[in-house]
Amino acid sequence: MANAFAYIDGQLHAERLSAHQLAEEYGTPLYVYSRAALTEAYQSYVNAFTGYRSKIYYAVKANSNLAVLNVFARLGAGFDIVSSGEFARVLAASGKPHDVVFSGVGKRTTEIQIVLEAGGRCFNVESLDELERLNQIASESSQIAPISLRVNPDVDAKTHPYISTGLRANKFGVALDDARAAYRAALGMKHLRIEGIDCHIGSQITEIPPYLHAIDKILELVDQVEADGSSINHIDIGGGLGIRYNNETPPDIGTFVRTILNHFDRRGHGHREIWFEPGRSLVGNAGILLTRVEYLKTGTIKNFAIVDAAMNDLARPAIYNAYHKVDAVTPRDGQLPATYDIVGPVCESGDWLARDRSLALKSGDLLAIRSAGAYGFVISSNYNSRPRAAELLVDGARVHMARRRETLLQLMNGESVLPD
Ligand code: LLP
Repeated sequence: MANAFAYIDGQLHAERLSAHQLAEEYGTPLYVYSRAALTEAYQSYVNAFTGYRSKIYYAVKANSNLAVLNVFARLGAGFDIVSSGEFARVLAASGKPHDVVFSGVGKRTTEIQIVLEAGGRCFNVESLDELERLNQIASESSQIAPISLRVNPDVDAKTHPYISTGLRANKFGVALDDARAAYRAALGMKHLRIEGIDCHIGSQITEIPPYLHAIDKILELVDQVEADGSSINHIDIGGGLGIRYNNETPPDIGTFVRTILNHFDRRGHGHREIWFEPGRSLVGNAGILLTRVEYLKTGTIKNFAIVDAAMNDLARPAIYNAYHKVDAVTPRDGQLPATYDIVGPVCESGDWLARDRSLALKSGDLLAIRSAGAYGFVISSNYNSRPRAAELLVDGARVHMARRRETLLQLMNGESVLPD
């Protein structure tokens, strides 16, 4: 499925279903995901590493809806999690503990216990302090924790500063200069078993050289660490591959994977297991957000299309100044377009979804905000007491209600007024 969200007879479709009908039936704002697009992205990774010992650990944070996780679990994916909440979701979506790697700078004791007890595949440890805590927890339950160290290779992924993670100034990972000593320390901890090494240099990365640069640094370290007596079975190169939101030209998944694997081969490390932790490149373009125009407001400086989705539904523009394409679900032929800022009802000037877009609109029209499958719903909030949107997973001509629209009762769940 080259494009799961395409126009058929002048109407935007999600696979074989009309977006207009979906919005009519399920209301807006509405996230719509395509099973075919999720599957195709996953298969692009798998096809590209056929013949290698590679595995995908889908970064759950990008989109943790159970239906989405279940699609990947059925395809045989592993999962990269950063909390016991994500772990619970993976299990609920029939993922297996043994296919889970646990990342994150701030794993809590109870979270470590839960994942260790269940038989998690690997802990991506981010500090010496965490190594010690993990060893302690494992010893208390007479277990051996499988570990890899997340190394911060200090390379510039050339992406937005908020989503660049592999620089010395970032909070993530063990600094490259300290990593050899950290592995030595881990060797001396009886309840840890060294399995591999990992890094993650950032997100929405649109070129390959920063990865190769990071890999070179990691491989140098691998040689040193193995000389010290550890054995490194797998190298996890993290996620981060970018997608096309607008005019970006990221490598396609196949090219990306093959370039990385060839690089390992050339460096004499092709025999190792190579793990990938992609999030956005698997789900980003597999989702759209449907929203309805409530009001059009023509000003002297700007025109506004005020829609029923807001920064609480899709925060990426407000947080990262991110660009998402916006298309009319049923384009109006014969009406001259005007330039609009697409904004939501939230009481903040930062509440915008798109700026300066040329569209022919009338109030009541439906818009599709593209590339909303990654870091869309998962970052949504209830700000302004707005119930969170519904999520659908479309599969051919079938609809699966992946998450019902939140109700006002759910919105206040757990809260109470003062006693008399
Ligand atoms: N592995 C680790 C350890 C990560 O921290 C991340 C993302 C991933 C994998 C997946 O990266 P991806 O393939 O999705 O780039 N909210 C931001 C993105 C934050 C990414 C955080 N880490 C956004 O909306 O652009």
